[in-house]
Order: sequence, then C-alpha cells, then structure tokens
Amino acid sequence: MSGTPSTPANPADSGDAAALKSFRTPIGTHDLAPPESGRWVALLGAFIAAADRAGFGYLQTPIFEDIGVFARIGEGTDVVGKEMYEFFDRSDRHLALRPECTASVCRAFAQHRPTTPWKVWYQGPFFRYEAPQAGRYRQFHQIGAETLGTDDPDADVEIIALAAEFFRAIGLQQVPLLVNSMGDLGTRVAYGEALSSYLQRRAGDVDPQDRDKIAHHPLRILDSKREATAAVAAEAPRITDYLTAATAAHFERVREGLDALGIDHEVEHKLVRGLDYYTRTTFEFRATSLDAAQDTICGGGRYNGLVEALGGPPTPGIGFALGIERLLLACDAEGVFEVPAQRAEVWVIDTAGGAAARDLTHELRAVGIRADRAFDDRSMRAQMRAADRSGAEIALIVGSDEVDAGTVTVRPLRRPDGGDVDTPQQTVPRAELLPTLRRIFDELNAEGVA
Ligand code: HAM
Repeated sequence: MSGTPSTPANPADSGDAAALKSFRTPIGTHDLAPPESGRWVALLGAFIAAADRAGFGYLQTPIFEDIGVFARIGEGTDVVGKEMYEFFDRSDRHLALRPECTASVCRAFAQHRPTTPWKVWYQGPFFRYEAPQAGRYRQFHQIGAETLGTDDPDADVEIIALAAEFFRAIGLQQVPLLVNSMGDLGTRVAYGEALSSYLQRRAGDVDPQDRDKIAHHPLRILDSKREATAAVAAEAPRITDYLTAATAAHFERVREGLDALGIDHEVEHKLVRGLDYYTRTTFEFRATSLDAAQDTICGGGRYNGLVEALGGPPTPGIGFALGIERLLLACDAEGVFEVPAQRAEVWVIDTAGGAAARDLTHELRAVGIRADRAFDDRSMRAQMRAADRSGAEIALIVGSDEVDAGTVTVRPLRRPDGGDVDTPQQTVPRAELLPTLRRIFDELNAEGVA
C-alpha cells in the first residue's frame, strides 16, 4: 500500500459524523416490506388469475419514455402540465417518468403492431408530483388492463367486468360503479361550447380557486370537489344530451351488457375524468368507505384517438387502472383482504452446532414444506420461543443425542387452526422423517376437524 490517504469504503470507518447522515424515503414515496408486502403479492395473484381467465396477457413497458408519449395525454391536464417528473438524460434526450400507462400501451401498440384485439394487463410504479396525503402519493402503484383494436361495446363491458370480478375476488363490496359517455370528437366540441357558455354565465358562483378552469379546462369544473363549484356543476348541461346516434347506441349497449352481467351501475353525468384522451365510455369505481377527495380506486374509459396520436393506425381502445394503495385503504376500511399470515409449517431447532438445521430446512423446502430456523447458535429456550412465534405446527429438534443416534425429535406444536395438539412427541430415524411428518400433518388436520 502506498502512503496516500484513501477514502474508506464504509463511511462508518472514517469516524466522520457528517458521512453518517441517515436517509429516508423521499416525500410521497414509501417502502413496502413484510408482512404488508405479502398482501400486495396476494393482490397481484388475485388480479393475475382474473386477467388470465379473461384472456389478458402481461405487458411491461419502460418506467421512463420520451416525454412526447405522455404529452399526448393532454398538455392541459394536471398530470402532464403540473405533475410530471421530467428530465434530460446524459445525451440530452427529454424523458419523463411514466405518470400512467395507457399512453405507453398505445405507444407499444403503434411500435409492435400486434394482432387485434390486443388484450393486455400491467402493473407497477407510476409517478406524479402531487401534494402527498393518505391515498395520494408521488410514487404510487397501479394495476390496469387495456383492450386495443375493437370498438365493440361488449369489449367495454368485458373490461368493466374484469375490474368488478377482481373486487369480488378480494371481497371488496362498497365500491359502486359510475358510468358516463363522452361521445365522440363532435360531441366534445358541441358540448364544450355549451358548457363554456353556461359556465361564463355562472362564473360569479364558481369557487374563485376554480375560475381559471372556465377558460382553460371547462370539463374540469365538473369534477371539482369545491362546494360552490359543485353546485354550479350540478346544473350544467349534460354531455349525454349531446351524444350522436352512434355514440348513444354504444352507451346503451354497454349499459345493457352491465345489466345482463348483474353489474350494478349508475350514470354520473359529471364523470369526465382527468385525462384528455377519453371518447365514449368513461367509468369509475369509487369506494364509499374513503374520503371523497381520494375515493376513486379505479378509473378508465375509451380512447379511440390515442394510438393514432402516437403514430399508429386508427385503433380504438378501452381500459382501466386501479390504484393499489387506495384499493388497500378501502380493504382496510371494509375489513377485508387482510395481510396473509406468513407461517412456517416446520421449525428446526438445532442445539448441536447448526449443521442439521442447515441441511433439514433445505431438504424440507425441496419437497414443498415451508421450513425455517433460527441462526447464531441460540439457546434451546430462545429457539423454542422463535418456533412458537413462527406459528409452525411442528418443531424438529436436533441435539447432540439425536446427532449421535442419527435421529430427529418431532414435536407437534399446534394444529393448523392454532388449536392445542394431542399428538405426542416422538424421536424417529432421519430416514423416516418425511413419512412421519406427513402422518403428523394429517393427524393435526384431522384433530382440527374433529
Ligand atoms: P387515473 O384516474 O389518472 O387514470 O388513475 C387511475 C387510478 O390510479 C386512480 O383512480 C387512483 O386509484 C390511482 N392514482 C392516481 N394517482 C394517484 C396518486 N397520486 N396516488 C395514489 N393513487 C393514485 C389513469 O391513470 C388511466 N391511465 C386509466 C385508464 C386506463 N384509462 C384508460 N385505460
């Protein structure tokens, strides 16, 4: 080694207090750790099962894209205009962290030109620079699904039914479905004019904080939560009165389909959604158990011009995205879909140096048994406590006697339902361990049933 001072690899070695600064997650973000993370995994599993049954395949797009992809969501929307995380990379490319996935799905469709209908689902983190509060984060997580390449209203019904089926599967009940139709481009123009002139007449009654929207984004007035604005919105012209015959028939067929499938819904004329790409059907599931400002757990609709706007052929599309954090808040409020217990089935206690615990856990896991152990050569008492805490049904005990005799002591701890056990402890040769375990598991199950 030369005599030149070097930077210690670990700041703790430098004795420099400033180097030991501790870090926390950035505002509006959170870590996801066990046991809560077990709930996310189970949630994804339930969605995957429902999406798979309905013929949707998994699509993964990049977390960041050319900013132009997201600009197509609508320059006037808050999501694009105020909340996007944008940056230039080292080659001066203008990129953004994805604030949602529909634009990326349409970009992927335009790029790969898959056969239609293209039915995909996605999940992952999304980013919006919003004011963080319960149910509103800067990095949040969505699960979504999209069907591209068909304008059939039954595809709208299928998409909505997928979300409804998922809620049913996880036991969520207090999530009424609201639907509306935004019509086509002609409808939006005619309705936009009627709405603007109505709002200009009523400008004095609109909450001062919403007034600039009258000129820039009149549709946004309709879903304002501010009381004065909401009163004006309640009397505003209704978009469904401006539907063309074709879009009205589409909406009718969607509603008929929902009725046929037993999916309760209500028409909400003010449901215009916060993104500019919607045409025809829009819908939201709102959790009545959550605060009104964050009660939309799932939102979606048709976007028949977006693929074209991203350089692809004219291609209709329909989809939804649901916010996982918000969905779980709604589950908590309803007391459903609890954190799954992550239990070992077998706990190996080794007071003879740890080699038996190392080998037995490995062997048991290989045959599909959830097996775990303590480390660091702890005392028998400490290992027994760990076994109890683990919720395991059976403890395997290996001390020096067992090592000498080539045996294992099998001690039943509890039934699968947590009840006390009658089955006595027994010491068996290592070779007989697996059949013994299987027999004891069966006995414990039977004790629970009896
Ligand atoms: P969105 O309404 O912007 O729609 O977001 C969908 C859902 O994501 C919301 O209903 C909410 O549950 C959740 N979410 C949005 N922002 C946040 C946030 N800051 N914190 C926590 N959760 C949030 C879309 O993203 C569209 N791409 C949906 C769609 C798919 N439309 C057609 N296809």
